[in-house]
Amino acid sequence: MSVAKKEYKRVTVKSLIEMKQNGEKISMLTSYDYSMAKIVDAANVDVILVGDSASNVIAGHETTLPITLDQMIYHASSVVRAAKRALVVVDIPFGSYQSDSKEALRSAIRIMKESGAHAIKVEGGAEIKDSVSRILQAGIPVMGHLGLTPQSIYKFGTYTVRAKEEEEAEKLKQDAKMLEELGCFGIVLEKIPAKLAKEVAESVSIPIIGIGAGNGVDGQVLVVHDLLGMTHEFHPRFLRRYMNLYDEMSKAISQYVDDVKSRDFPNEEESY
Ligand code: KIV
Repeated sequence: MSVAKKEYKRVTVKSLIEMKQNGEKISMLTSYDYSMAKIVDAANVDVILVGDSASNVIAGHETTLPITLDQMIYHASSVVRAAKRALVVVDIPFGSYQSDSKEALRSAIRIMKESGAHAIKVEGGAEIKDSVSRILQAGIPVMGHLGLTPQSIYKFGTYTVRAKEEEEAEKLKQDAKMLEELGCFGIVLEKIPAKLAKEVAESVSIPIIGIGAGNGVDGQVLVVHDLLGMTHEFHPRFLRRYMNLYDEMSKAISQYVDDVKSRDFPNEEESY
């Protein structure tokens, strides 16, 4: 179904709720640096997520746990300088909000003040209720993240689909309702059954953005390096690769090495 799109000069949290009301799907994509964010923003992606997946794709860690608040602020401020239209949402990293709600608020304020981002994203439900409330009370827009929450990977043990069992599905539905009632402007649902994600999207008025959560939600998010095929060793079922940039880049760089070795580069025109 094609839906008439309203033009947004600058996407805000209000625009996202309006998109849901109008049946317009929301596009969201990660970026961690200025150059990539410029391309993503110019392509009219509605939301740029400075995800803590930077810990994996940029820093090469196995999990999202090691990335620090300072590192997230550095990535976020580079993205903010590039984004002219998109709403910029930043992940609060592991270890900077779990102790208590005051620490959570301090971390959220640092992100907003030092990076210039527009909103933050937090993983979890009832267990972080006080922190979410406190951040919202300070006027900072908050996006939730339920389902597979990578900061809890050592609790889950694997990256498999979450909430397949009734008990976990029930808790997820309650958590989504709670986040909506607290005043969150949206929720990411990661790697859960499509039927459950659709049910959640239909039961709340705020946008539900899915990753591995089927097509019955209000929008989709992917890690930009996965979409472009720069990360070639990662093959989850939910991922659609639009390019094979790993191979393209490898070819170009190998050609450069050959050209240097053979003295083909630089030629006269490329010299002063
Ligand atoms: O960190 C991230 O990139 C994310 C998305 C996968 C939703 O949280």
